[in-house]
Amino acid sequence: EKEGYTHFMMKEINEQPKGVHDTLHRRLDKEGNIVLDGIKITKEDLEKINKIYIVACGTAYHAGLVGKYAIEKFAKIPVEIDIASEFRYRDPFIDENTLFIAVSQSGETLDTLAALREAKRKGARILSIVNVVGSSVSRESDDVFYTWAGPEIAVASTKAYTTQLVSMYLVALHMAVTKGMLTDVQYKTYMEELKAIPEKIKKILGNTEKIQQLADAQFNNENVFYIGRGVDVAVAYEGSLKLKEISYIHSEAIAAGELKHGTIALVEQDRLIVALATQDKLYDKMLSNIQEVRARGAYVIAVAKEGNKEIEKVADKVIYIPDTLDELTPILSVIPLQIFSYYIAVARGCDVDKPKNLAKSVTVE
Ligand code: M6R
Repeated sequence: EKEGYTHFMMKEINEQPKGVHDTLHRRLDKEGNIVLDGIKITKEDLEKINKIYIVACGTAYHAGLVGKYAIEKFAKIPVEIDIASEFRYRDPFIDENTLFIAVSQSGETLDTLAALREAKRKGARILSIVNVVGSSVSRESDDVFYTWAGPEIAVASTKAYTTQLVSMYLVALHMAVTKGMLTDVQYKTYMEELKAIPEKIKKILGNTEKIQQLADAQFNNENVFYIGRGVDVAVAYEGSLKLKEISYIHSEAIAAGELKHGTIALVEQDRLIVALATQDKLYDKMLSNIQEVRARGAYVIAVAKEGNKEIEKVADKVIYIPDTLDELTPILSVIPLQIFSYYIAVARGCDVDKPKNLAKSVTVE
């Protein structure tokens, strides 16, 4: 049931504080330690694992991109990430020291399942991050982490993505703690910040008029670029996919540093660019990129952390997200992008919950 919302997508966007809260709190004991009951990887197992593959499709793949950042940063294990339909047809180097992580909302995506089977056949241990309990991906995995987002009906994934992100952070932090890579202070800081995320999402959701106004002013644009650096690139991919799948506007996401290697040729008067600038150490670089595209006439909507005011001097409009650790910004910065896509699709009269040509679960090749 839509519970008063016009579309499931908006209902599900609004369910994110609860989804993120549930995914997190069901994994913490009274002392605040992470307890992952579906994951049996021991310290000895982890010491053997010398490589991780994260494999998924669509939005789940975008969650995987953030997972790569988190695992490499916290647990210091090299991570490769691949799209399931690519992974399964090449000959990736996998052995019994490889951990394969499948990410899937439905747990029924055929390419993801086939990639998982291929990795298993080659001896990898299989961990899955899945939403649907008892789905094929979960049944065929050695270790399962459920995202507890609740049923997601809209074809465009929203709460499944943010809960996949929390799951990724928890898996990464758990690995880091098990390997002894984090100090108590570091661990506590990350956990406190994670626990504060649901309230911060609520804050964004309580103040969406500006995003709606921006969408109403831009819904006629037929080409959009999403740019970012560092972990913001992953969010740019997700924001871009969200826009194209429900509004049918052509959009593309690229790492901002790549602009000058080709894509900037397409930047012209009034070209809409959504620029993510949430990473402290990359903030100045993003300001320069924004200036470069503005100099060519682009209209820039930036997403930045509260308090970073200089960006107002270079961007046309700024959407602020509450402050948090740089590593965790994707769970917040994606929210305005979901809302922006939603209102653009509504303004264009699109069938938001059931976009043309798309199925909720892709069980064919
Ligand atoms: O069920 P899965 O997470 O395996 O699905 C993967 C993709 O098909 C899915 O994320 C798709 O990209 C969504 N429509 C994106 O909103």
